[in-house]
Order: sequence, then structure tokens, then C-alpha cells
Amino acid sequence: MGYFITLEGVEGSGKSTLIQHLKDFIERKGIEVIVTREPGGIDISEQIRSVILDTRNTKMDGRTEALLYAAARRQHLVERIIPLLQEGKVVLCDRFIDSSLAYQGYARGLGIDEVLTINEFAIGNFMPDLTLYMDLDPQIGLNRIRNNKGREVNRLDLEEIHFHMKVREGYEAILERFPERIVRVDANQELDKVFSDTKEIVLDRAKSIFH
Ligand code: TYD
Repeated sequence: MGYFITLEGVEGSGKSTLIQHLKDFIERKGIEVIVTREPGGIDISEQIRSVILDTRNTKMDGRTEALLYAAARRQHLVERIIPLLQEGKVVLCDRFIDSSLAYQGYARGLGIDEVLTINEFAIGNFMPDLTLYMDLDPQIGLNRIRNNKGREVNRLDLEEIHFHMKVREGYEAILERFPERIVRVDANQELDKVFSDTKEIVLDRAKSIFH
């Protein structure tokens, strides 16, 4: 079996930059790494993603949103992630179940337990081996996004700052719940320091990758 690492955090916390850096770092050690993302990563899930994130879908109910994320996650897991892990690869995924727990469970107020339950239906007891949580003040993250004109703006980016603050609180609650799986990274530091902190965590927690 390979090794499954997920990255989590509020908008603009630098997950996509970090994921590429982490990929290079692990690959330099001669290990094959696949990068993927949620919601999406494969055709069916990308199609579901476009429905969820379409800025025209302002009427979308919270539970509908949670179920669509869980459906996209299920398909991505069985079609892509599990087969890659069975081939012994390291899989790095930009967002996974904790995004649903923080965004839909906590910030949308559906309840962390309720959202965990529908996700258990979707993915059984399959959980990441390690989760890196990029911790950042959401206002800093949103400012970063707004300064990055090339980035697409999606339906959730348009939520008020208050919503993103709740997302961060949600992540705090989840961190307390899964302390052995999730590790916090201080994302409000120079990029080099964020990278070096992350490398240390991975070398320490994911020892089995490096033998
Ligand atoms: P994306 O463009 O991938 O944003 P980011 O670069 O911040 O990851 O859009 C994903 C959006 O979907 C993001 O706002 C977080 C949200 N999301 C949820 O609300 N629940 C989920 O389960 C997942 C996977 C994402």
C-alpha cells in the first residue's frame, strides 16, 4: 500500500504551491508521487465540481452541497486514489474529507457529526494517512487571492469573511478530534519556512514512505 497525504486550509493558504513543492521533494528521493485535488480529479468528479462551484447556483441548499462533495469524493477515491495506493504510490490530495467537515459541517452549520456520517457512507472508514493543515488568518488568505488575478473565483470564494472565519474555527475543532492524523503548519510565514516545516513533518510522520 502507498501513502495518502491530504492538504487542508482556508482559501489562499498556499496549498497548491506547497503541494507541488512537496511532490518535488518526495520525488527527489526516488518515490513516485501523484498530485490530485478535490472536488474533482477525474471526469465524473470534475463534472460534479462544476455544478457545486458554479457562481450561478446561488440557490444550492447546504445538504445538497454536502452530498455532492461526498459523491465526488467517492468516485475520486474508488476510481483514482485507491488504485494508485494499491500500486504503492504516494498520493497528495488538495482537500479531502476535512474540507467537508469544516465548510459544510461547521461553517454551514450542518453539524460535523452529520457530515461525517454521510462521508462514512461515501468512503467507509478510509482516511488519509496524514493531513497537513495550513493554518492562516482567512483575511490574509482572501487578500492573497484577490491580488492573484489569474485565479478563478468560485462560489465559495464569494462568501463573506465571516464564513471563512467559521471555516477556520471548524478546522480547529477537527484538529482536536483527529490529533494523531492532522498536523498544523503555520502558513503565515515566509514560503521557505513553510516548506521546511512541512518537510520536517513529512519526514517524521511518513517515515514508511522513505523506508
Ligand atoms: P478550489 O478552487 O479548489 O479552492 P481552493 O484552491 O481554495 O482549494 O475550490 C474548492 C472549494 O470548495 C473551496 O472553496 C472549498 C470548497 N470545499 C468544500 O466546501 N467542501 C469540500 O468537501 C471540498 C472538497 C471543498
